[in-house]
Amino acid sequence: MGLIQEIDYGTKPSAATSLVTLSIDGQSVAVPEGTSIMRAAMQMGTQIPKLCATDMLDSFGSCRLCLVEIEGRAGTPASCTTPVAPGMVVHTQNAKLAKLRRGVMELYISDHPLDCLTCSANGDCELQDMAGAVGLRDVRYGYAGENHLGQDKDVSNPYFQFDPSKCIVCSRCVRACAEVQGTFALTIEGSGFASKVSAGIDENFFDSECVSCGACVQACPTATLMEKSVVEIGQPEHSVVTTCAYCGVGCSFKAEMRGEEVVRMVPYKDGKANHGHSCVKGRFAWGYATHRDRVTKPMIRAKITDPWREVSWEEAIAYTAAEFKRIQAKHGKDSIGGITSSRCTNEETFLVQKLIRAGFGNNNVDTCARVCHSPTGYGLSKTFGTSAGTQDFDSVDHADVILVIGANPTDGHPVFASRMKKRLREGAKLIVVDPRRIDLVRMPHVQATQHLALRPGTNVAVVNALAHVVVSEGLADEDFIRERCDWDEFAEWAAFILRPENSPETVAALSGVPAETIRAAARLYAGAPNGAIYYGLGVTEHSQGSSTVLAIANLAMATGNIGRPGVGVNPLRGQNNVQGSCDMGSFPHEFPGYRHVSNTDAREIFERDWGVALSAEPGLRIPNMLDAAMDGSFLGLYIQGEDIAQSDPDTKHIVGGLTAMECVVVQDLFLNETANYAHVFLPGCSFLEKDGTFTNAERRIQRVRKVMAPKNGYGDWEITQMLANAMGLKMHYTHPSEIMDEIARTTPSFAGVSFGALDRLGSIQWPCNEAAPEGTPVMHIDHFVRGRGKFVISDYIPTDEKTGPRFPLLLTTGRILSQYNVGAQTRRTDNALWHEEDLLEIHPHDAEVRGVKDGAWVKLASRAGETTLRAKLTDRVAPGVVYTTFHHPVTQANVITTDYSDWATNCPEYKVTAVQISLSNGPSDWQKDYQAHSAAARRIAAE
Ligand code: SF4
Ligand code: SF4
Ligand code: SF4
Ligand code: FES
Repeated sequence: MGLIQEIDYGTKPSAATSLVTLSIDGQSVAVPEGTSIMRAAMQMGTQIPKLCATDMLDSFGSCRLCLVEIEGRAGTPASCTTPVAPGMVVHTQNAKLAKLRRGVMELYISDHPLDCLTCSANGDCELQDMAGAVGLRDVRYGYAGENHLGQDKDVSNPYFQFDPSKCIVCSRCVRACAEVQGTFALTIEGSGFASKVSAGIDENFFDSECVSCGACVQACPTATLMEKSVVEIGQPEHSVVTTCAYCGVGCSFKAEMRGEEVVRMVPYKDGKANHGHSCVKGRFAWGYATHRDRVTKPMIRAKITDPWREVSWEEAIAYTAAEFKRIQAKHGKDSIGGITSSRCTNEETFLVQKLIRAGFGNNNVDTCARVCHSPTGYGLSKTFGTSAGTQDFDSVDHADVILVIGANPTDGHPVFASRMKKRLREGAKLIVVDPRRIDLVRMPHVQATQHLALRPGTNVAVVNALAHVVVSEGLADEDFIRERCDWDEFAEWAAFILRPENSPETVAALSGVPAETIRAAARLYAGAPNGAIYYGLGVTEHSQGSSTVLAIANLAMATGNIGRPGVGVNPLRGQNNVQGSCDMGSFPHEFPGYRHVSNTDAREIFERDWGVALSAEPGLRIPNMLDAAMDGSFLGLYIQGEDIAQSDPDTKHIVGGLTAMECVVVQDLFLNETANYAHVFLPGCSFLEKDGTFTNAERRIQRVRKVMAPKNGYGDWEITQMLANAMGLKMHYTHPSEIMDEIARTTPSFAGVSFGALDRLGSIQWPCNEAAPEGTPVMHIDHFVRGRGKFVISDYIPTDEKTGPRFPLLLTTGRILSQYNVGAQTRRTDNALWHEEDLLEIHPHDAEVRGVKDGAWVKLASRAGETTLRAKLTDRVAPGVVYTTFHHPVTQANVITTDYSDWATNCPEYKVTAVQISLSNGPSDWQKDYQAHSAAARRIAAE
């Protein structure tokens, strides 16, 4: 097992289909029109020396190392910038070219430190390779002249360093930041000898606009930009391809290792979701896996006020099984249940729901996806026939108008955001529907044509108003509707949408978005050859989340924007495997593959395979489990990889429910907030320590591969298996691939999926079956999954959460790039340097009338509770709206959120809470109590 080397073709592939035949060094080669000579040569196995070219970037032509001769043409053109032509005769090597190249290299090397033996690049250096490739043996100019050798390193970024003495000013970093990442943080300052890479005017990398994605580090051909982990540990010696465990983009990485130590994570160019790019989390924030806070021994305690007692795995599992059996014997089989994780693998999630349905004998299984995208499942199933997002990420390259609703891709889904920004720089138009001025509204080389800064809670009204304009102005795609949808249902919906209450003028009054802006946005979207909708939790986490998803689907169908590249309805899923956890049957009413538990045919498939009778009654959702706990009828809970005490709304309700239970089992990496209320702690393992699969937001199933032994001794699937066996449900899997085989034989949309197929194809987008053996990138191409697309009436019903004199402001919540979800992982890495605390964004006007200055401590109070945090004055939020993140437990943002939830799915209404702000001296009483309890729980664990 060595390092996986990916070929660098020097320039990007051409998308042309027509071929051009030419001769290179006497060999005939046929390549797509528009291919560079450099790439054509590489395709036939000849590497032309190069420095400024790399196939992740557009050709630049600055280093002059890749010169070639072309018969019939004067001079020596650069092969990276010269496209092939029919009949062209190219020579890549002769004495003249060799001399020219040596001359170029000589100049570079004369201003480069000759410390190759001690350089951290240690052979992984294109400059050194090229010196060898051009046969440079001597440097005539000496090293005494003016040079850049004494310059100071910039070590301000926690993850990489910049050593200008090694820079050859090839601009690869500058271009990577612009073209791949789209941040434009770097420039080449000065000219000629004085030119140098700069991260800002007199700024270091950390203080600059840099978002630490690492694209420049990856692009740098020298040791100028270098991961600090490589400097510290040394060069890796083998690599394993795996999948990021943070967000739903699902970036593919090469984990580059020395033994069992990760040296660096390098985005995999063959990764179909990320094409060689990543964000700061996946590339750099993996240190949590070996953080000292990891608990690696099982622990139990009879009462949550007792100290934890470290025990053997045998004792922990036996204790848990005995407790669950005792509770069931006394309170009935429905008195226990479990929660699956959207961070664990498909195989692990499948096993947890199997344990609950077949081992516990009930359907009391739910997942954290309840609190994010359950309305997507409901809305898209009703209208299209499947909850799946309709496109692959590549589809955005074909979009002409992009409508982003309630999503903040640059923070939440950064690698996809880079793709989207690239398409916008190419000329696609952007409409943003969001109460806050997210970065996409205005950033370097990207500007939204329309920003609909609506009042939180009015999504349904605004999307209905867009549809109103489409129908009333004759912009609907009648051909598409007649061919693909149910016309009668359309007619009924059109009559509804044309009602005066859905007109832009009426909606303007309640949403705060001017009618003309709504009209302009609707015309832009409906008039686009390809209009694509991307949405996030700003759509789903509302009491009307499902209605907005229905309204979005209606809008896309009415404009014919379904069933081809460049269009579609695309939920941007939050966690790495939230799609997978839903697919794997984590909801109490659905088996894997979204089949209702009352569906006899589906039930029989599982009953036959598992050899037990299954309940046809939907089980309890998380909020119902907690209610039942308070009533004394639900007393045992198995939670794998989920921290409901921090991530779910109305913390007091959660804590009340957990405290009332008799056996709470938490399986996690760290003693999380929920573990404060647990009786059993089963140490979990990180994605680096297990095999399995994750499914990303585009339904792409990808392999997760073990790169180190589990620190706790077992993969999470093995722990569930031990518990199942102790409960009397026999499981004998020896590898997660066997679990995937079971998923495939019981779940039609996964019928063709296996670890073998994934290893062969790289990744597979479900459905994957006989009809689509290599998966399905774009859904609903010829017909909707349900047959005809269904228009569903989506009435706007205002939330019960109202502002008034006591609570005059609306709080909405979201994420930040450097932190992830409840922060359990990212807070245990240097990412915390970018976001040390949650801040409350407030408009200067609202701040002024309350006497709040920037940085002041403020009390944030709602009907549900209160907390304190510091204020940040900004006009990113409109007057009347405040915003915060929820990455730090100390902030307790979910103490504020109410228990209102989506009418169809119970998805909590995180995005709308009526609040008041006032100046404060410090933490609220609840924060103080909570912190004291947390500290005590940790102290008990430490002892
Ligand atoms: S790390 Fe990313 S954002 Fe920062 S300078 Fe490099 S490419 Fe630009
Ligand atoms: S830092 Fe690296 S990529 Fe950037 S100009 Fe210098 S050598 Fe080239
Ligand atoms: S975009 Fe998401 S999947 Fe990709 S590296 Fe960042 S966190 Fe990981
Ligand atoms: S590689 Fe072609 S000019 Fe630099």
